[in-house]
Amino acid sequence: MSEANWTTSITKTAAGELRVRGYEITAMIRQLTFAQTVFLILKGELPSAAEARMMEGMLVSSIDHGITPPSNLAARTVMSGGNSLNAAVAAGVLTIGDSHGGAIEQCAKILQEAVAQGEDAPTLVTRFKAAGKRIPGYGHRIHARDPRSSALFTLADECGFTGPHIRLAAALMEELERGGTHKLPLNVDGAIAAIISEMGFDWRLGKGFFLIARVPGLVAHVFEEWTTQKPMRKLGPLGGEYAGPADRELPLV
Ligand SMILES: CC(C)(COP(=O)(O)OP(=O)(O)OC[C@H]1O[C@@H](n2cnc3c(N)ncnc32)[C@H](O)[C@@H]1OP(=O)(O)O)[C@@H](O)C(=O)NCCC(=O)NCCS
Repeated sequence: MSEANWTTSITKTAAGELRVRGYEITAMIRQLTFAQTVFLILKGELPSAAEARMMEGMLVSSIDHGITPPSNLAARTVMSGGNSLNAAVAAGVLTIGDSHGGAIEQCAKILQEAVAQGEDAPTLVTRFKAAGKRIPGYGHRIHARDPRSSALFTLADECGFTGPHIRLAAALMEELERGGTHKLPLNVDGAIAAIISEMGFDWRLGKGFFLIARVPGLVAHVFEEWTTQKPMRKLGPLGGEYAGPADRELPLV
């Protein structure tokens, strides 16, 4: 009986040899792009040409969003406090959640379940509104229309991935905005959620796609902070207003 208490189907490791999903890393180094390799490690099989192109586009789309998102603010703040690059990048990664980047996960779950159950956009929007819930993957603080989403859907169309999840994602945006005053664009998380659903990925990988794409951006921001800014510079909410109790004295004891 084997004494191994862990098994993995991802990578085989032996002295002088590494095989990812069965393929030799030395051959992969010569023949595969990073996007193809990410697809292989997540899905277990090599991508087709269309899958590889789509993967590439999704990873590029989320590489950075300037200094506005919580992840870059956190990463640069931690670097400014005098920490290492890895600690600062990790701080940025920790901000990624259901409202920042991580909306891919819940949006893909909703789209996959709705398509499987034949639920249409009006029914879904009515259900969420009645529960007082937002639909992840819609809305943006800055963009009235997220340019990344339309570019990704155009690429998805060229790659032959337009299907029920993408159609539902587009219909949901129209439905959400119908009769309302707010622009609720399909954001990049929502677009990626629809596309990975068309490509047959499990929704539980959703946050992983964003993490894989965004870490290079975080590294660039942390490096810029490290090399161009003085530590402990004025980074915080400088105009922050105090809204606590009025000045008061401790009771005499
Ligand atoms: C991204 C987000 C935080 C941006 O918020 P914002 O532009 O500051 O908008 P607000 O939070 O002020 O909301 C404005 C209105 O739109 C509604 N709204 C915003 N996002 C919504 C969504 N995804 N689904 C349904 N309604 C939404 C709000 O309920 C609010 O309506 P009300 O004024 O009638 O109460 C927000 O749209 C959201 O929570 N989206 C879901 C999470 C998500 O996709 N995150 C990834 C962002 S890239």
